[in-house]
Amino acid sequence: MSEATKPESERRQFKAIKGTRDILPPDSALWNWFEKTARGVMESYNFGEIRTPIFEETELFARAVGNETEVVSKEMYTFLDPPRDLDVGPFPRQTTLESMGQLSDLLPRDRVSLRPEATASVVRAYIEHGMHTRPGDRKLYYIGPMFRRERPQKGRYRQFYQIGAEVLGTSDAPAIDAELIEMLTVLLERCQIEKYTLLINSIGCSACRPTYVELLRAKLREPEIFSKLGADSQRRVETNPLRVMDSKLPEEQAIIEKLPKISEHLCADCKAHYEKLKKELALREVPFTESPRLVRGLDYYMRTTFEITSPILGAQNALCGGGRYDGLVEMLGGPKGIKGIGFALGEDRFIDAIVEAKKINATRAVDVFIAWMGERAYPTAVRLAHVLRGEKHAVELPPEEVKFRKALERADKMGARYVLIIGDDEIASKQLTVKRLANGVQERISEDAVVDYFRRG
Ligand code: HAM
Repeated sequence: MSEATKPESERRQFKAIKGTRDILPPDSALWNWFEKTARGVMESYNFGEIRTPIFEETELFARAVGNETEVVSKEMYTFLDPPRDLDVGPFPRQTTLESMGQLSDLLPRDRVSLRPEATASVVRAYIEHGMHTRPGDRKLYYIGPMFRRERPQKGRYRQFYQIGAEVLGTSDAPAIDAELIEMLTVLLERCQIEKYTLLINSIGCSACRPTYVELLRAKLREPEIFSKLGADSQRRVETNPLRVMDSKLPEEQAIIEKLPKISEHLCADCKAHYEKLKKELALREVPFTESPRLVRGLDYYMRTTFEITSPILGAQNALCGGGRYDGLVEMLGGPKGIKGIGFALGEDRFIDAIVEAKKINATRAVDVFIAWMGERAYPTAVRLAHVLRGEKHAVELPPEEVKFRKALERADKMGARYVLIIGDDEIASKQLTVKRLANGVQERISEDAVVDYFRRG
């Protein structure tokens, strides 16, 4: 069948799936610069990299992040493995969490999800590898894609990238929380992002939070308050009243401002922990703003929560978020008494902020464009390209001969710093020509001196 007679469906072009995107050069250079910078900062605080799988048992996220959270209940990409036909709905395989629940013989490990975040995986790995048996805290960082089926918009994607760090161990010293936050501010500084706000809060522990949650629920149930809430918040009054606090709906803001604040209902231990955290941050000269409304959207948090927002980002203004999750290791079947704290930053958003700040230029120009002309020049061109690349120069070697003028134009378009010209004359005299594109200055150098010439830059 010829192309023209193929049905439309077979001729259509493919596009990246909604909410996903390609990151192309030269933009990818900034991503690489950022990842390298982040690794450098985290390693200077003695964090080591952990790489966990992209998919895990659905149950892991349900238990760690919480069944009632938006992330788990609405946004996970979940499928059956091995695949099975479900006799529900118009499609052969309906893989909503609800429809899967109809399978009476479904084993927990048959249901898997693309990771919506990595803390659950890191804690799973911590337990699985018995990391608690080694002395001291485990300080781990990760870089990679996460998946959430959210409504895409600028700064919000279905496949997005996070860089995160977690500290797990027996201590819950506020100095750990403060050092982690300090590390983030160092990264912001390296990226020359100056416009940001660090928001901090404490959301209490299992001793004080339930009493506060009941107080909040009772308040939210009052008819004159309840009737002014939107449908989502009304539902959350019963499922998770804390989440009403971080609603973004403009019409709910005046109500939220007047609700009781958790900071006024912390138990003595949580209060002391929070006060110490603030002192530790001050000691490190990290400016912060207290935000009683910062409750975060994942269930595992307790005590310290924090977020860094930036006004240069628009609606999706959270650059990163994190907090303490002291009960999580035990909740996932691990040893008792292990504490944890961590954060994840949105790489996509950090990149936007770096671009907005206009201070970092990570694109690497071509150092040397080799303009070779004639069969006799080609072997020398290939050899010198290899040698110069070995010297870590970025070298462009045209695979086919290009006329001199065209070669100069191409080199110029690429932003090359030098053009190394090799033609018949140069081969005969063993004297090559180097042209510096910034000022047009041309020099003759002997073939043997090429490496030294470019070493000097
Ligand atoms: P999170 O607040 O859900 O926390 O996500 C952290 C950051 O990831 C957000 O502040 C945002 O920058 C970025 N992010 C989240 N969703 C998207 C999206 N759809 N598109 C682009 N960026 C996004 C966590 O994930 C926790 N695991 C953080 C943590 C680690 N807490 C303790 N340890």
